[in-house]
Formats: sequence, structure tokens, C-alpha cells
Amino acid sequence: MDIEKMIEEMTLEEKATLMAGYGFWETQKIERVGLNEAIWVSDGPNGLRMQPVDENGEPIWGNGSIDAVTFPSACATTASFDRELMHELGSTLGKECQAEKCHVLLGPAMNMKRSPLCGRNFEYMSEDPYLAGEMAVPYIKGVQEEGVGTSIKHFAANNQEHERMYESNEVDERTLREIYLPAFEKAVKEAKPWTVMCSYNRINGEYSSENKWLLTDVLRKEWGYEGLVVSDWGAVSDRVKGIDAGLDWEMPGNDNANVKQIVDAVENGKLSQEALDTAARNILKLVKKSRESMKGGVFDRDADHRKAVEIARECMVLLKNEEKVLPIREGEKVAIIGGFAEKPRYQGGGSAFTNSHTITSVVDVMDGYGPAVYAKGFPADEDIYTDDDFDEAVKAANEADKVLVFAGLPDSFESEGYDRSHMRLPVSQDLLIERLVETGKPIVVILHNGSPVEMPWMNKVDGILEAYLSGEGVGEAVMDILYGRVNPSGHLAETIPLRLEDTPAFINFPGSEHKVYYGERIYIGYRYYDKKKMNVAFPFGHGLSYTTFEYSNLTFSAKEFTAKDGVTVSVDVTNTGSVAGKEVVQLYVGDRTGTQDRPVRELKGFEKVALEPKETKTVTFKLDERSFQWYSPQQGGWFAANGEYVIAVGSSSRDLRLKERITLVGGPEYLPEINFDTQVGDLLACPVTRPYVLNDMKDIVDKYAKVGEEESLSTMIEALLRYMPLRAFRNFVNAPNDVIEKHVEALKKIVEDYSD
Ligand code: BGC
Repeated sequence: MDIEKMIEEMTLEEKATLMAGYGFWETQKIERVGLNEAIWVSDGPNGLRMQPVDENGEPIWGNGSIDAVTFPSACATTASFDRELMHELGSTLGKECQAEKCHVLLGPAMNMKRSPLCGRNFEYMSEDPYLAGEMAVPYIKGVQEEGVGTSIKHFAANNQEHERMYESNEVDERTLREIYLPAFEKAVKEAKPWTVMCSYNRINGEYSSENKWLLTDVLRKEWGYEGLVVSDWGAVSDRVKGIDAGLDWEMPGNDNANVKQIVDAVENGKLSQEALDTAARNILKLVKKSRESMKGGVFDRDADHRKAVEIARECMVLLKNEEKVLPIREGEKVAIIGGFAEKPRYQGGGSAFTNSHTITSVVDVMDGYGPAVYAKGFPADEDIYTDDDFDEAVKAANEADKVLVFAGLPDSFESEGYDRSHMRLPVSQDLLIERLVETGKPIVVILHNGSPVEMPWMNKVDGILEAYLSGEGVGEAVMDILYGRVNPSGHLAETIPLRLEDTPAFINFPGSEHKVYYGERIYIGYRYYDKKKMNVAFPFGHGLSYTTFEYSNLTFSAKEFTAKDGVTVSVDVTNTGSVAGKEVVQLYVGDRTGTQDRPVRELKGFEKVALEPKETKTVTFKLDERSFQWYSPQQGGWFAANGEYVIAVGSSSRDLRLKERITLVGGPEYLPEINFDTQVGDLLACPVTRPYVLNDMKDIVDKYAKVGEEESLSTMIEALLRYMPLRAFRNFVNAPNDVIEKHVEALKKIVEDYSD
């Protein structure tokens, strides 16, 4: 396939036709120029939602998607904190795609969890951009190493379903750069996804599908992206503007609805031929690469079901385990209560919904674990109950040694397409749990949900296991954990707040008059709760094990370091319990230079380590300059102040076992912007400009001091000058304009010389 020749030979109409897909999942063929083959894309991200095709390759509609294996959703897999597991998941999906002739898998979905109410949180990875990026990279590599493309989505700031195709997210650049873009940035730079899917929403008034700053300046020019940009399905408003902005491919196809517009725009000079050719080239490059890397294979559904079980076991988070209620001991009689034990909720609704091969429920497998009886209590799909069902459940509990309650959110409570309206479980579930507590039996609640729920009974039950939406093997995986055949090792990739009203975006979510203000700015998730010193139900990074871990020997390659060299941190972790287990060792960095408004701590490293009883391993983290930086729109880039930073290592964001301060030296100083309005305080705060104010502006400053009845610059006068613009010396000490201008010019030169 000679791409340049095709571009040369295609007519303007043909190129315009190529700009959108053919139908829902395919590229266009332009047979006249030899483009005889199309490629197929498919959702994603936690299983294959491939459209079945007939013997002619034409899609068969109406029967759902192919028989596939449903793996745990991203809410669960990210909680594994296990990069190798993500790679394994990616390569399994890649092989499935090869077998089913799917060229691009539409995932991973990596938007930030801004509010627990977002209906699609189950599909998203985390409230922390570093974690989301680190976990997306191996997934993408895993898929692509199999010769299948990925589509990181939804670029960018698609953090709610409410008005998702219209609303404008009003968000400042620092917040975008530090919170909403870095996971995409890491994925682009380190894993080179074949495609990027732009989001539905607008950002500061501009649709992502038409946003040149986002799709060209940031994505391509700054991050060096070379793949294709596809629209989310139906995200295109102005196709011509989109092509100019860097949106290559519109999906799904629209029966050539935009062809005339594109042709007219090129003919009347509104759209350059070059921009159209660039988009055409990107589409053809993807077609060529995808077709050349197809090698076929076998989709062994039973083997992949086993993998789904294995993956699920690594993801579940043991939130609470009082008096070692878990694991269930041999011979203990258990009451299994709750409709989710029979009809587990294990995947989310919408485009990620797959047609599962084999679903194993707890009721299917319970006989293989120990003496147990099942009583439904409440259904899994509705918020209703009967007194009889409640009485039967209470009776079963009274006759058991321990009670396992399988609770969660029904499908109708959370899905793509709409947000949750509250953070509670169905009333029937909370009511029954309270009644079961009254039996005095040890109670363990197992949650099946894609996003946090309020747990009013949290302090009254003995154990809580967050199973999330853990794929079609949920029954086996959950029972393996409950019975101790597998030691839980998942940790929270998000904070579980106590109540909805505590959450950072509560006041601003989901917006009004088609705008949503990101008023909490960089303070989402634990960044917010830590800054406000708030209690939460379970903190970010939390996860218990059936064993215990001790941390010791925190060491640094240097206590003073430069940003360029970074610093290497190591810590010893020992399994001090009696069973083998895995610990998620987390490293957080906190800026203590006092120079900027920054989060108390931010995750900048993690490793999952497997340890036999009494075994110790040394875990090493390499912190690069980005680990210390914040984004300054004023300085036009990433910036870290010289001074002290706290390095804290531990088992969660609030279980930090070892801490120490290290010092960043030799970095550039933060420079004030110099003009007539520059505040004197900013000049005094900067070591580069301070000497000029003290020496060369001494006359003016002393005159000002006299107004304040001081001799010269005292602490008091310095405080008064802090917010005074240079121009105001005109009013307070009668300084003429030309004198102030002379100082402005001199200061500008000092700052410029320093930057050079
Ligand atoms: C979703 C995407 C999905 C696409 C195709 C859209 O509604 O937002 O995540 O990949 O549909 O199904």
C-alpha cells in the first residue's frame, strides 16, 4: 500500500469521504485508488465487544456482540497496582483481537475520577493521574505488542456523563496540565498508542473535536504524538474546523454527510489541502499498519476465563477486617446473603458492555468452599424487598457462624450515559445490613460497584471487601479471597469518602447552564481531603492483607539533589506475618518549600512486591524532575522550587510509615512577570530581582517608608509593599512615570539575562 501515491491519486471528494468511517466500526474503502481493505475497531476496554460479521464480512446487527470474555473493569484492575498484570490483560485482549480480526481496541478509558457520581467511573482508572498513566502504559503495550492498536480515551476532561456531548468544562490550564492531561501524556510518550479518541465535551467553550490547542499544540507538537486522532462516537460538531484542529477520523460513519462541506471548504480556501492530506495520511497509515500486523490466532475462551479469574483475585480490596473475621476458617458455617451472590454485577453498562462467555456466581461455586446456605434477602437488580425475604435472611444469619452479605449497585444505578444522583446503596440493602448487625453475628459485606458508596453501617460490620466490577470470574475470585486461598492485595485507586457532601466537586458537579466549573482545581481526590485534613471512610491507596508488612531503612542516593539528576529512594519491606502476601509500597512527594499552593502529598512511585513470611525485599524508586514539579502557565512550563520536599513511604496515603526531608538545589528561580503592574512583593520574593529593589530603588522605597513613619524598608513596610504595583509609586511617593519605566526596563533586563 503506497500511501503517498494514494493521496496523490485521490480526488478531493474521495479524501473527504475517507474522513469518516463506514458504518459503526470500519474505515472507508476507496477501491479506485487501490484502497480495497478496511480495518475494524471495537470496544473495549475490558473485553471484546466485537460486532459479529457474516461470511462476506458484513456486520450482523441485532444479536449483540460476539461471545467474549469479560475481564474486570478498570475500577478494579487499577486497584491491583500491578503493572505486569495490566500488561498480561493487554496482551490477552490483543490476542483475542487478532483471533477476531479486530484491528483497534477502543481503550483504555483514562479520565480522572473527579466525582464519585460520574456514571462511567467504573471504566476509568483513578483519581490520581500518575497512577492512571502508570497502569495504562503496560496495558497499551500489551495490546499493541500483539499487533493490535489501542485508543486512549476520552481526550480530554470527560469527567461526567451529564450533558457529556454539549457541556463546557471550565478548567484552568494548571489544573488541566497537572490533573486531567498527565495520564494521557505518559501514555502517548511511553506507549505510543496507535489512536487517541477525543472526548465529547467542550473545554473552556471549545469542543475537544475542534480544539487545536489540545489536538495539535499539546498532543502532537509538545508530546510528539504521531498516530491517529479519532472522534468519540458522535463527538463531531464542525467537521471542517475539526480537520483543521487535528481530528483525523470521524466516527461512526454518517453516510457522507460532511463530504460536501469539506470539499467546499478546501475549494474556497477555508480548509487547507495540507490539513486534509495530513488527516488522510494518518488514516491510511493506520490502515496499512493494522492490516500488515494481522496474524490471526485462536480465541480460547475457557483459558481466558481462567485469566479473568486470576486477574480479579489481584484487584479486590479488603477495606476492613476486624478481629480477623476473614479469612473464613475451615468448618465455619456461613450464611450467604444478597442477590449479588446469585446474580453478580461484574461489568458496567454502555459501550464497555460485553457478551460474557461464562459467568460464575458465588452460588454456583459455594459448595466447593465450606458449609454455607444462601438466602437472597434483596435482589441484585432492583431496590425492593419483602419482609419474608428479610426474615429468611435473618434466620440464616442466626444459624450461621459468620454472615457474608453480597451487596452492590444495580445496573440501573450507574452506567455510561448518565450520572448517579446520590452515593447510596439501594435502601433495601442498607436496611437488611442493619438488621443483620442486630443478630450479633460477625458480618462481612462484599461490594459490587463501579464507584464508591456511602456505608452508614461501616462501623458496625466486621469486614468489608470491595470487589468492584470484577469480571465474569467474580464468583470464584471472591470466594478464593474470602476463604484465604488467595491473600487480598488490591489497594484503593480512589478515596472512599464518608458522604457525598464531602467530595471536592460537590458544589460544582454537574454544572448548570451547560457549564461545569472545576472550582476545586488541582484538589481532586486525596489531594483535597488531605489539604482539608478531612476524615474519609477509606483513604486512597488503602488495602489490607491477611499478613502484615513492616517498613524500614529509608535511604536516598543523595539528600541534596538537582532536578536534572533526580534522586533514588529505597526502602526495605518485610512480611512480618505468617502467610505469603503482596504489599503495594507507595511513595508520596510533598512540596515544603512554601513557595506555591501545592497538594500536601502526591503519589510519585509505587511497586507491588510479593513476600513470603519473614522475607524482606528492597524496593527502589527513581524520582525524576517531574516528580517535584508543578505546572506554571506564567513560566510557560513545569517548575520546581529549590528547597525542601518530604518523601513519605507507606501502605496508603494515610498510612505513611517512613518520612524524610530532602533538598532540591541548583534549580532555576521562579521569575515574576515584569511590567508597570508588577507587585513589589513579587520582586522582593525573588532572589533574582530583590537586590535591585533594595539597592537601585532604595530612594523610592525609603520615601515610601517615611509615609509609613519608618526610616527604610522594615518588616512592616515590606508587608505593605507586598501587593503594591510599581505604578502605584506615582500616587504614594510622587515618582514620575519615566522613573518607574526606567526601573521596569532594568528589571526586565535582569530577568531576561537570568533566563538566558
Ligand atoms: C463511548 C466510547 C466508545 C464509543 C464506541 C461512545 O459512546 O463514549 O467510549 O468507544 O461510544 O462504542
